[in-house]
Amino acid sequence: MVAAQVIGVGSYAPERRLDNAELSRTVETSDAWIRERTGIGERRIAAPDEAASDLATAAAKRALAVAGLQPNDIDMVMVATVTGDRPLPATAAIVQRKLGITNRCGAFDLAAACAGFVYGLGLGNALIGQGQCRHVLVIGVEVLSRFVNWEDRTTCVLFGDGAGAVVLGPGAAEAPAGIDGVHLHCQGSMSHLLTIPAGGSEKPASGASLAEREHYVRMEGQDVFRVAVKELASACLSAIDALQMTTSDVDWVVAHQANERILEAVAQRSGIPFERFFRNIARYGNTSSASIPLALDEAYRSGSLEPGSKLVLCALGAGIAWGSCVLRWQLPKPTPQPTRQRGESPSESVA
Ligand code: UT7
Repeated sequence: MVAAQVIGVGSYAPERRLDNAELSRTVETSDAWIRERTGIGERRIAAPDEAASDLATAAAKRALAVAGLQPNDIDMVMVATVTGDRPLPATAAIVQRKLGITNRCGAFDLAAACAGFVYGLGLGNALIGQGQCRHVLVIGVEVLSRFVNWEDRTTCVLFGDGAGAVVLGPGAAEAPAGIDGVHLHCQGSMSHLLTIPAGGSEKPASGASLAEREHYVRMEGQDVFRVAVKELASACLSAIDALQMTTSDVDWVVAHQANERILEAVAQRSGIPFERFFRNIARYGNTSSASIPLALDEAYRSGSLEPGSKLVLCALGAGIAWGSCVLRWQLPKPTPQPTRQRGESPSESVA
């Protein structure tokens, strides 16, 4: 079976920055608390006219440009999100239209919360491996700013908006697999720990539930913290073990950016040095499905990744769902880009 590799990567973050100082003027919190407890300094907030599909399309255009592909070269559009444009249709269908893809390729959304992008990589890898698709676009996007209660300091300081995308293509038969050691898990018995109670079929977003603010994120933070440390450390080691690698073979861990203290604890528990954990939570906060591809793109654009770099990707979130894989990086380092135009993103300005 031919394994997939990443042949293009891109990201997009909205222009508006909301820093801790500004937030502490509207809710009872402080820059010191947020930094110390989470590592977050600021987050991006989508403009009123930006929906998830807009962020996703911008990130996807950048990934296509790196891959040197045209929109109609894509055989499948996958959008990992829990904050899509609408309940119907899938945000992936809207992204397909906005990208100008007219080849009638498949397009669907994938809801595994913060683990969604890793689930998408696993699925894209399988589709390419089976020969069903040649080029798969896997996007992670969230506009969580519309789903947090801005009066609840226990959640509103954590989340931000953004998008990241990769194009997957078939790897050379003789080369080591690009994506490998994929592990995907969920423990539904913990599904109450991180939830948006209303807005679905169980509790439609009626006037009553809006008043109760039930269509906003709620989280049992400490419980999620504990399970995150335990399962992420174990998921990293499972992916490494599956490839008969050791922790010293790992060049970078690109983990879901939920809390810097979680990353520190995962490093300690897994035995992978903390310096090898790529971190950008300070500038984006927790962007759920978008977090890993946003970090991956930033690592790529900063020149931190080289062909042959061995990355461990891992994420955990609502569900409680989690996953991990090993990604052997194969893209050459990027050529230096001219000055960014909108000052908003780790990537070059939108094509
Ligand atoms: O992306 C999906 C996965 N998500 C995660 O992995 C998140 C996991 N959880 C966490 O990252 C952490 O649990 C939080 C960052 C959410 C919270 O940090 P914590 O260290 O667990 O704080 P805590 O909930 O134990 O709260 C400690 C204190 C409380 O006050 P008292 O009861 O000790 O007086 C809170 O009321 O901090 C208070 N607090 C705040 N104070 C200032 C909670 N939020 C804030 C705030 N500013 N924003």
